[in-house]
Formats: sequence, structure tokens, C-alpha cells
Amino acid sequence: MKNTIIVTLTLVVSAGLSWAGAPEGKEIFTAKCVSCHGANGEGKAAIAKMFNVTQAPLASKEVQAKTDAQLQAVILKGQGKMKPVAGVTEKQAADVVAFLRTLK
Ligand code: HEC
Repeated sequence: MKNTIIVTLTLVVSAGLSWAGAPEGKEIFTAKCVSCHGANGEGKAAIAKMFNVTQAPLASKEVQAKTDAQLQAVILKGQGKMKPVAGVTEKQAADVVAFLRTLK
């Protein structure tokens, strides 16, 4: 009985760890990304028009096919018409990437 509890706890803790950063990432996403990408990364028609681009939904296969490092680089260094997002540390960018992975 005691063993079952320990095994269950271990599973819960390790499952939690693999998503570490996603809740923090969601907060950062809400503060820094939603204005251009929408709450679920679906994109915004007005922003796409203003930047004259097609915004791929962040949950899409194309975007999810990028590696964590590539996604982190988009946030920290920008890509195409998206400027680097100001005031985001490397750790925060990694947290945002963890959150992006929950969108797919
Ligand atoms: C000022 C508006 C703006 C903000 C703020 C912004 N983005 Fe973007 N983002 C864009 C635009 C516009 C593009 C498309 C760029 C292009 O294709 O030239 C883009 C592209 C991307 C891409 C690449 C998608 C692809 O098709 O390869 C990712 C990933 C991304 N943004 C993530 C984020 C994250 C995460 C944040 C917050 C930390 C963020 N963006 C903040 C406007 C924004």
C-alpha cells in the first residue's frame, strides 16, 4: 500500500516536471504575445494585414515542426517581420516554448 502511494507520487511529480515552465510560459504569452497571436496562437487578421504576412497558427504543423531552440530563437531574435520580443529572458523564452507545445 505504502509503495503504491510512493509510486503514484513519483509519477505525478515526474509528469509535472515534463511540463515545467508551461504555466509560467502561458503568463508570459498572455502578456507579450496574445496581442499579435491571439489567446491560442491562432493569429490575428488585423496584425497579418498590418505586417502584410500570412500568420501561421502557432499550433499548426509547420510551427510545431520547429525545434525548441528554433522557437526560442524566434522569440529572442525575431523572424521575418516579427521583431525580437523585448524584456524576455532565455529562461522565459523556454517557458513560452513549453506553453506553445501545449497548443498542438
Ligand atoms: C508585434 C506583434 C507580435 C508580437 C508581440 C509577437 N509576434 Fe510572433 N509573429 C508576428 C508576426 C507578424 C509573425 C510572422 C512573421 C513573418 O512571417 O515574417 C510572427 C511569427 C511568429 C512565429 C513564427 C511562425 C512561423 O510561421 O514560423 C512564432 C513561433 C512566433 N511569432 C511566436 C511569438 C511568441 C512566442 C511571441 C511572444 C513572446 C510573439 N510571437 C510575439 C507578430 C508578433
